[in-house]
Amino acid sequence: MTRPLQGALIGFGFIAEKGHVPAYLSAPDQIQIVAVADVCAARRERARQVLPHARIYPDTKTLLSAEARGLDFVDIATPPCDHAAIAHAAFEHGLHVFCEKPIATSAADARAMLDHAIAAKRVFFPSHNYKHAPVIKAIRAVLESGEIGPIHLVTLDTFRTTHAKGVADWQPDWRRTRKTSGGGIAMDHGSHTFYLAFDWLASQPTAITAKMSNLSTFDTEDNFSCTVTFPTGIAVAQLTWNSGFRKVIYTIHGANGAIKVEDDEIEIHRKRAGGAPGPGDVERLSAASHWMDASHVEWFKALQVEFVQAIRTGQWVGQEARDAAMCVQLIETAYASARADGKQLAIGAERTAVVKAG
Ligand SMILES: NC(=O)c1ccc[n+]([C@@H]2O[C@H](COP(=O)([O-])OP(=O)(O)OC[C@H]3O[C@@H](n4cnc5c(N)ncnc54)[C@H](O)[C@@H]3O)[C@@H](O)[C@H]2O)c1
Repeated sequence: MTRPLQGALIGFGFIAEKGHVPAYLSAPDQIQIVAVADVCAARRERARQVLPHARIYPDTKTLLSAEARGLDFVDIATPPCDHAAIAHAAFEHGLHVFCEKPIATSAADARAMLDHAIAAKRVFFPSHNYKHAPVIKAIRAVLESGEIGPIHLVTLDTFRTTHAKGVADWQPDWRRTRKTSGGGIAMDHGSHTFYLAFDWLASQPTAITAKMSNLSTFDTEDNFSCTVTFPTGIAVAQLTWNSGFRKVIYTIHGANGAIKVEDDEIEIHRKRAGGAPGPGDVERLSAASHWMDASHVEWFKALQVEFVQAIRTGQWVGQEARDAAMCVQLIETAYASARADGKQLAIGAERTAVVKAG
């Protein structure tokens, strides 16, 4: 039997404690968390309670110096500003990396992380956990059946009544502070929106136009909307932390029908030949995805199976990692577009555009 992978958690905040750890503890034959680093003393104390057998450190450097020889991977669950530096340090110690989204706060950093993984021959795996939500799996099954045909338009709306808070012991509002987060709701939630759009439109984006606003006194946006061009179609996304309700609403439109998702409720509309769907052509399903519980433990269990598989098979940088880097590039380009009053920008051309504009 293969021995369980030995892992270290960097950042023991909300998602590490409530999402990653319960999933790891459910599969001790696959993964064991033997060390934790957190810069906050109260969070280190919490880690001692939750993982009494783990060795606890005040920072990544001290953890890696003491533990790297016995480790297989690190799981990065700190705010985004530190993801790149921690990933590079882990690769330098020959470790695989599981990394929370967004993987970095700049496209250059994201690309450098993937390049380092390839050079070090170590896995880089992003936390694209929404792919494992039951409703998203239900959508994928319909798409794979081919019954609604090729997709030409998707809309992805994420409505929240406030920004998500980090643990109270550290900096609960770090998502609103650009230095720590890299941006507002687009940087925080955009990755989930965009990797789903890549999957549903079955291609990579070529251009984006974006608008954003900020109703708060923080230095990051809390309303964001964009239209993304793909070779296969268009994605329209709206994200807000200022809504009157908390909901996820997705629509996916194909040549022969459409799918609508509102939280756990799914409608599949099938067109009759050459026409609109009749009343009997709408199928309604429900797939409990527990959207209101932000820890998403069940989704992480599925993700960890994929991470272990990537390590066992030596897939250093797979499609998920490439999509993660593209998400950051798209968000960076969206910010440049919004600063230029919604000008459409080619993906990858944002630096030239900004230099010309500035
Ligand atoms: N995939 C998802 O569904 C999901 C959900 C929530 C959060 N996240 C992501 O997880 C990451 C963490 O978010 P959170 O909500 O858990 O935040 P949090 O504030 O609750 O936790 C962050 C923790 O990291 C620690 N920390 C900060 N800088 C550090 C450093 N340099 N080294 C070690 N420890 C450090 C803090 O003390 C804190 O305990 C973010 O990237 C966020 O976007 C993902």
